[in-house]
Amino acid sequence: MAEVIIVGSREDAGALAADEIARLIRARPDTVLGLATGSTPLPVYRALRPRLAGVDVSRVRGFALDEYVGLDPEHPQSYRSVIAREVVAPLGLDPARVRVPNGAPDGIEHAGADYEAAIEAAGGVDLQILGIGTDGHIGFNEPGSSFASLTRVKTLTRQTREDNARFFDDIDDVPRHCITQGLGTILRARHLLLLAFGAGKADAIARAVEGPVTAMLPGSAVQLHPHATVIVDEAAAGRLRLAGYYRETWQHKPDWQGL
Ligand code: GLP
Repeated sequence: MAEVIIVGSREDAGALAADEIARLIRARPDTVLGLATGSTPLPVYRALRPRLAGVDVSRVRGFALDEYVGLDPEHPQSYRSVIAREVVAPLGLDPARVRVPNGAPDGIEHAGADYEAAIEAAGGVDLQILGIGTDGHIGFNEPGSSFASLTRVKTLTRQTREDNARFFDDIDDVPRHCITQGLGTILRARHLLLLAFGAGKADAIARAVEGPVTAMLPGSAVQLHPHATVIVDEAAAGRLRLAGYYRETWQHKPDWQGL
């Protein structure tokens, strides 16, 4: 099962995740990070900045999970812009070593295979940061996505477009298509770190961690991974049946185990 850690706040979650990522980068300067967008990972990136002060990050690589198709890459809400603004610049990463799937309509039919090849050439993702949508999607793998899927174009659900409309002036401005790492791509990462905050995520988290493994809840793919860590605040943990067990496990976790 995934290890579930229930923390008091987003900041606590960010600190815990950032400790692990900084440890990884110190141990392996050429660490390959899987980067998520959305509001959830922001506390991680913020907490990471001071932890990387004085650490050589020049060889760190990054692969974003997903991108909108057809959105100008310079648009402030393109994931290329978000990753540049929230991750690459503050952490001082080399922009040439951080990739985002190419959502340009021209050549989109090859963009997924190109991205898979680039991840493979980098030696695979060491640690994949994940958020989860209210419908249980990870990356932009909407309900029904195959567990074997690789990076490809998907159509966003109405629910996801409504959720993400807050980043745009109008829901009609939210693109209908995206290019996303597949569930199969995500499952190849060596360590998954899924974060969720707020009561709005409680149902998706309970189903992802404790529900049946089903393509109808793409986040349930974490149950198939040998090393998955789920960090949630109290509100997002609200529907977990084994919450008491997770707390006890965390409280008594041997130091040597790490995350
Ligand atoms: C988007 C992203 C996902 C993210 C999800 C949740 O759909 N493609 O990677 O997990 O939003 O967003 P938030 O973290 O803002 O709740």
